[in-house]
Amino acid sequence: MTYQPSETRHGNLNWRRAGTSGLTLPEFSFGLWQKFGDRTPYETQREILLAAFDAGITHFDIANRYGPPSRAAEKTFGRLLREDLGAWREEIVVSTKAGNPISASPYHRGGSRKNLLQSLDHSLKDLGVDYVDVFYSHSPDLAVPLEETVGALVSAVHSGKALYVGISNYSRERAHEAAVLLKDAGVPLVLHQPRYSIFDRRLEIEDILGQSAADGVGLITYSPLAQGLLTDKYLDGGVPAGARAENSDFLSVDDITDEYRSRVSALNDLARERGQSLAQLALQWVLRRPEVTTALIGASSVEQLHHNLQAPGFAALTDEELEIIDAHGVHGTGLRTK
Ligand SMILES: NC(=O)c1ccc[n+]([C@@H]2O[C@H](COP(=O)([O-])OP(=O)(O)OC[C@H]3O[C@@H](n4cnc5c(N)ncnc54)[C@H](OP(=O)(O)O)[C@@H]3O)[C@@H](O)[C@H]2O)c1
Repeated sequence: MTYQPSETRHGNLNWRRAGTSGLTLPEFSFGLWQKFGDRTPYETQREILLAAFDAGITHFDIANRYGPPSRAAEKTFGRLLREDLGAWREEIVVSTKAGNPISASPYHRGGSRKNLLQSLDHSLKDLGVDYVDVFYSHSPDLAVPLEETVGALVSAVHSGKALYVGISNYSRERAHEAAVLLKDAGVPLVLHQPRYSIFDRRLEIEDILGQSAADGVGLITYSPLAQGLLTDKYLDGGVPAGARAENSDFLSVDDITDEYRSRVSALNDLARERGQSLAQLALQWVLRRPEVTTALIGASSVEQLHHNLQAPGFAALTDEELEIIDAHGVHGTGLRTK
């Protein structure tokens, strides 16, 4: 059936500016990391992505590696643009990344100019677009001079293949260095994409929050629900059918420990007292920080998506509640180091 987007979509979400740039993003961005490849029916993927657009999400985050297999998520989104969303391309921010391994070849990984720029060309073909809105260096590559990685990002913008550039998973120091180099090259760093959740405090511990603000760089923080661990779905110790821990390279039943369950149970009690779900509490917690431009979420159903987008509607977290969250939200719970 021919798709027509909701006419009320523009008013549904709050908007924030990415650092000191002119790019405005909705408080929630949607990522196609897992379940947007060959293991999920295309119709399910389409339904979720169109529901996100209808709900006001304009920013879709992809990477050459997302699927599985690698490259599948870009093909999914390319098909969606071709068959449904193409007429609204100007309303959409499409982001992609390169740098994490997608094959055993040395030219399919890392921060070299060769890998980054040839991957971007490949992404444009799979997405069926002339340009992406944001092109990222997916992870720092300490074996490659930062000047080379940054130079490739600058070339992506100068060639018209990307409007803005970003970095992901960088340390505070390397992110600052990249921001300085990019500023000198006249292509400001617009976004840094690290992980941040009640169970991952690296942004606070290393003060990446403060450094990003000082550098005028927006933060797009991923896995705010710790891949689903910050919901009530694993509370009884089992793995519900179809949940990520059942079939993922990044989360498994081994992550559902007794320690995890006792912490999440206390957080769940707090959420209930506040009249919301743990997922909604966890999202509100991430968005309480002004340095965060947008929370980068995933969802495996339209119901999850709609439920999560209601998070900003609840009362702001009090200092007392934040203390309770700190007591149970122990850094590293359920998380593998990246
Ligand atoms: N730059 C990087 O290195 C990097 C790394 C990782 C992710 N990312 C980006 O961040 C995006 C989001 O990551 P993420 O998917 O880990 O985010 P997340 O929001 O922490 O987790 C999303 C998953 O949690 C579960 N979930 C969501 N809402 C739920 C609800 N209300 N109740 C129960 N379960 C719920 C769903 O999994 P199930 O239903 O399948 O269990 C869903 O797919 C990715 O798509 C990607 O774009 C970037």
